[in-house]
Amino acid sequence: MSDMIHAENLTFRYTDFSRATHLALDGVNLTIPYGQFTAILGRNGSGKSTFARMCNAINLPSGGRIWVDGMDTMDEEQLWDIRRACSMVFQNPDNQIVATVVEEDAAFGPENMGVEPKEIRSRVYQALKMVGMYDYHLHAPHLLSGGQKQRVAIAGVLAMKPKCIVLDEPTAMLDPQGRADIMRILHELHEKQHITIILITHHMDEAVQAQRVAVLDGGHLVMDGTPREIFTQTKRLRALGLEAPQSIELLERINQTAGEQIPMDALTVTECADRLEAWLKGGAQK
Ligand SMILES: Nc1ncnc2c1ncn2[C@@H]1O[C@H](COP(=O)(O)OP(=O)(O)O)[C@@H](O)[C@H]1O
Ligand SMILES: [Mg+2]
Repeated sequence: MSDMIHAENLTFRYTDFSRATHLALDGVNLTIPYGQFTAILGRNGSGKSTFARMCNAINLPSGGRIWVDGMDTMDEEQLWDIRRACSMVFQNPDNQIVATVVEEDAAFGPENMGVEPKEIRSRVYQALKMVGMYDYHLHAPHLLSGGQKQRVAIAGVLAMKPKCIVLDEPTAMLDPQGRADIMRILHELHEKQHITIILITHHMDEAVQAQRVAVLDGGHLVMDGTPREIFTQTKRLRALGLEAPQSIELLERINQTAGEQIPMDALTVTECADRLEAWLKGGAQK
């Protein structure tokens, strides 16, 4: 059985107009099984977007290989099957609007794939319902909020029935409500439809919600583990230009300033409150 994504020694080199080359990914080995929800983190320029585009065969390897749903992206004949299996959502929702009516916008992907018009209609309506945008199916996309546009972009991807969705900082331009909506939808797609989710983000509170966190730096995969394994390594994270979630930062600060030893493994506000409660109770007993 293949994996959803299997990258072996994956390398990508950009060549600019002056023929200077820049190594954006350098020997990345990463396997993502079907159905996993993975967050990819890394400071600006670490290679996240380059990796995302390689999952969709937009960028082809300069070295090494990447298999998507068992298909080698170097195999041109598989290009459309690869893009059908693994679809992308980008950061800027405005750049993803291709039509003047929401339902036509969401139909663009399956139309390009040559799906029957009747089937497209049913897929598009179903997809718009999944992201809570069915009521807007006859609206003009450019009049929607950023979060709503991003939901339409996700619907367009869902209408292609992908096994995997790669989202490159999809919430970066959204307000808190828009961000929360997108995260809720991603969890639903993951849990109910078993879609593999690869979420590139710089929001630690989003990465905490993933099953796995992979960190890129300078084109290398430098950390890979569960959110708890990754986020408790605060020093390492800082050296990589990343922060721990606020819950862990708070406990760390109390430990440092008050000389306490509260376990610093609180990934959520609730866990943080639990650790603080246990600490305060312990203090009362002293
Ligand atoms: N079109 C390009 N031409 C040359 N270098 C590029 C190009 N796109 C990205 N890079 C470089 O490749 C590296 C990785 O970029 P990218 O994958 O966009 O990182 P990230 O998404 O993590 O910010 C960066 O150093 C960036 O400057
Ligand atoms: Mg990027």
